[in-house]
Amino acid sequence: MPAFSANRPAVSQSWEACQNAVVDLVIIGGGIAGLTTAREAARAGMQVTVVDPTPTHGASYAAAGMIAPLTEYHIGDARLVPLLVEAARVWPDYARRIAGESGLPSGYVDHGTVVVGHDADDKAELLRHLPAQRELGFDPEVLTTREVRDREPALGPTISVGIAAPADHAVHNREFLAALMRANELAGVRFVHESAQVSARPHVVECESQELRADHIVVAAGVDTVHQGALEAAVRAAIRPVKGQILRLQADRRTSTVPTLTVRALVRGKSVYIVPRPSGEVVVGATVEERQFDVGATAAGVFELLRDARAIMPSVDEWAFTESWAGMRPTTHDHLPIVGASSRTDVHYATGHGRNGILLGPLTGLSMAQYLTTGTMPAPMAAASPLRFLGEAA
Ligand code: GLY
Repeated sequence: MPAFSANRPAVSQSWEACQNAVVDLVIIGGGIAGLTTAREAARAGMQVTVVDPTPTHGASYAAAGMIAPLTEYHIGDARLVPLLVEAARVWPDYARRIAGESGLPSGYVDHGTVVVGHDADDKAELLRHLPAQRELGFDPEVLTTREVRDREPALGPTISVGIAAPADHAVHNREFLAALMRANELAGVRFVHESAQVSARPHVVECESQELRADHIVVAAGVDTVHQGALEAAVRAAIRPVKGQILRLQADRRTSTVPTLTVRALVRGKSVYIVPRPSGEVVVGATVEERQFDVGATAAGVFELLRDARAIMPSVDEWAFTESWAGMRPTTHDHLPIVGASSRTDVHYATGHGRNGILLGPLTGLSMAQYLTTGTMPAPMAAASPLRFLGEAA
């Protein structure tokens, strides 16, 4: 169990001293999970180093920025629900605090979500999930097609049903990551821009040009966790990459009807989402592809996303195409993330967030800081213990 004492003498900031010092915490991975953990641990008094060749540019950068417990809930993931709900609850305050510390916009928007079906089969499929969603405590509101189009005039006429999810929000994830980076720098977190491996030797992280020593090591490396050869094979085998391709378009409000709500749609059985930003940027995502370590954008991926988005929102055709991107969701067999203890007392995990990396980011950092400073992982994150893959009680 971690046992951090805030009374450690301050480490000198000179480069030479940094090379040799034992810091409290080294985090491998500068995505949202690593950076929220770093920020919270630094604010709790820990000396923190984050190692990543390109912080903020992995799956967190590729994402659309869903903060959407209802519409990212999928049948069969019931154990995930308390985590998603609590994660959404902490987001607004977390976003405010990061904006305040950094002086940069948080990117958080609370404009709500509507879910629409395209044809009769899509409608039946969406309605089929309502009883289970209500049983789990969600409150989806079924709308007529007219009502849903009144709420979101950018929707076209070929809609079979609407469901309102007003508590499902979004964040401009790239803006938030920039603010979070700045908050980390201001909190004294040190960055090493290299790739890194947890060593078989306790308390050692092997970077490209140096070794780092730390009381605690947190692996927040997303799908790259599987390449950490010194870690437990059972945990690494529990993570697989699920590729997602995503598009960014730029709408012009003067000439086009631009959505104001996040729209999620089922179009002939395939999911697509459309996430508007206040600037007129519109994110369209995302494919779900079971591929090993492949982040190439493909013509088929772009085609399918545009085909399905324009089926429910014809003005998509008018917007400028600005980017196609792909990322890899670090997905686990049971859809719960992997957050907490390993079988080594010096190594801990904050990875495996699957489709919900942005939503779960702040809660992961807050929970990890509490775990690292007190030795106890708070509920509901305790359900994500890595020990479930190691045949040990969590
Ligand atoms: N959270 C959205 C996605 O994974 O596509």
